[in-house]
Amino acid sequence: MTEGHEIEGGFRGRKIAWGFSGGIAAFKACQALRLFVHEGAEVRAAMTEAATRFIGPLTVGALTGAPVLTDVLAPQQDMFFGHLDLARRADLVVVAPATADVIARLAHGMADCPVTTTVLAARCPILVAPAMNVAMWENPAVQRNVGILRGYGRYHFVGPASGLLADGDVGFGRLVEPWEILEAARGVLAPKDFRGRKVVVTSGPTREHLDPVRFLSNPSTGRMGHALARAARDRGAEVVLISGPTELADPPGVRTVRVVSADEMLEAALDAVEGADAFIAAAAVADQKPARYEQQKVKKTDAPASLDLVPTPDVLATVSRRVHDLPSRPILVGFAAETENLVENAARKLREKRLDLVVANQVGAEGEGGFGARANAVTLISEGEPNEVLPLRAKREIADAILDRVLRLFEGKAG
Ligand code: CTP
Repeated sequence: MTEGHEIEGGFRGRKIAWGFSGGIAAFKACQALRLFVHEGAEVRAAMTEAATRFIGPLTVGALTGAPVLTDVLAPQQDMFFGHLDLARRADLVVVAPATADVIARLAHGMADCPVTTTVLAARCPILVAPAMNVAMWENPAVQRNVGILRGYGRYHFVGPASGLLADGDVGFGRLVEPWEILEAARGVLAPKDFRGRKVVVTSGPTREHLDPVRFLSNPSTGRMGHALARAARDRGAEVVLISGPTELADPPGVRTVRVVSADEMLEAALDAVEGADAFIAAAAVADQKPARYEQQKVKKTDAPASLDLVPTPDVLATVSRRVHDLPSRPILVGFAAETENLVENAARKLREKRLDLVVANQVGAEGEGGFGARANAVTLISEGEPNEVLPLRAKREIADAILDRVLRLFEGKAG
């Protein structure tokens, strides 16, 4: 599984105006548009005349569930929603694919087609995903137009990516992958309320090896920790993600330190926590490790009948002890996965590890999320605040709710 292929939430109620211009990548942009719709966004589309030669407005209309603006001068379409309506109601305009031609027309403030008209009339941010031949992309005229748009501050670019192009050339020009457009949109839309903050997140399981090919571990996937890291990044934080072994891709724009064991995670955490404003321990650290590590693979004929185990270091508790008396210590956030007495057990962890916030989640119950689940239902527990129960939501939304609470804790500390 690569980053962003799963539904994470966070677009519920968001209004997106989507501009298609005429390139072969228009079919790939349809896949991206679908991701936005799955995420809960309300998408309306505009197409240039050339775009309608590559994909039918019927396809786009079926994907968005709304009429598609293809002709700003057609009285019937104008009656439907008015040629400026798309722009007026949008939280974000996405232009994907953006051809060299549409970029040129945008750079010069033209409003000669449904896409440029929509963009010009919008007051919201614009996300542009270029797709064209490499020679066209590298042409100084195109680069100058991109520079003009960047200079306005309201235009954000994602891609193009490098690779094999439709015409057989190799180089920059490919439309980025659909999930990259979604991720870029998250970044553009997120409030930048963590700007200037450093956030350290631990994520995933640890593996405690007994020999080179065998280990003790747990089924954590790292989704919660990675979602937190990406949410903090999108909100403007400098993020260090300390991740145990997971299938997830390293999030772009985040410094990811990959570790295997609890000991390695502790070392990386103590290193990263320097100067941090928040330390969020979302990792499912193995509590015990084999007392002995065998350098060579143990043959099954020599396998012991039982294993001697010793405790691993508690990463969060050790970091807490290390920073607690510092004049400006980071906000400390822990997770508590419990099968029973959720609130009492989590509150005990808050006290014992001297944390500012515990994110408690019930594991083992039907429909409650937890290990490997894509959604999570949690209770936020901190000193002096009523417990906040967040219903079952996508992990990204949980991540944002946790960060909202961390922000309040920053303010509490400052005040
Ligand atoms: N944690 C850690 N290092 C460990 C163990 C846990 O950093 N060796 C962190 C986890 O990342 C999580 C919190 O501590 O934020 C969980 O606390 P813990 O008391 O270990 O919870 P459980 O493992 O569920 O413990 P218990 O078996 O006591 O419920």
